[in-house]
Amino acid sequence: MVTLRINELDVTLEEGTTLLEAAQFLGIEIPTLCYDDGLSPYGACRLCVVEIGKEPKTRLVSACTYPVEEGLVVRTHSTRVLQARKMLVELMVSIAPRSKTLQDLAAQLGVQQVRFETRDEECILCGLCVRICKEQMQSGAIGFAERGYRRRITTPFDRKSEICRTCGACIYICPVCQLRCQGPKPPTAICGSCLQLSPSCAEVYDDLMCYMGPAGVCGTCVKAPNK
Ligand code: FES
Repeated sequence: MVTLRINELDVTLEEGTTLLEAAQFLGIEIPTLCYDDGLSPYGACRLCVVEIGKEPKTRLVSACTYPVEEGLVVRTHSTRVLQARKMLVELMVSIAPRSKTLQDLAAQLGVQQVRFETRDEECILCGLCVRICKEQMQSGAIGFAERGYRRRITTPFDRKSEICRTCGACIYICPVCQLRCQGPKPPTAICGSCLQLSPSCAEVYDDLMCYMGPAGVCGTCVKAPNK
């Protein structure tokens, strides 16, 4: 067992527990984005940063990947932590300004303006889609390609994947692909092709799985074999 101090509270937990789990155990809320209970932690978004160590030698680490350590001192809501989270979410909103999840996070964290140039992209490289495809759907149809600013998510060799079952899990978990189908009489223009599917995705998944890309192309209906 390992004993550490989080926000002046001592807690003893099993070795291997992450700081995020330790905070959750104490009822301390830490915002997350690329973390999901059912998937391995990846540490991509850094939104869960916490400050560890004693003054003046403290540093920021991602709570979802950092394991508890004996005697560790952790601060989850210090000024430095709050500023870092605000900056991170501001950067992410500048990449995908239409994401409702990001907008909500920005509001929660008190971000009132985005000072960076907006790019309107559809991916923030959180890796949730890659992990759910591999770890939950046992498929591995998509993965990361290239490095640095060219990094992106794609199928092997950018070709149609033979192993993709168009299950929609990647879309379901994505915090940025927000423009999902809204049903037969949506308030905004949606193609409605999913309604021609039998059984409909809503019946199969208990949820409407498709989304609309910015060019008005439906991501799921067009791929469905029985359309
Ligand atoms: S939630 Fe921890 S790095 Fe994204």
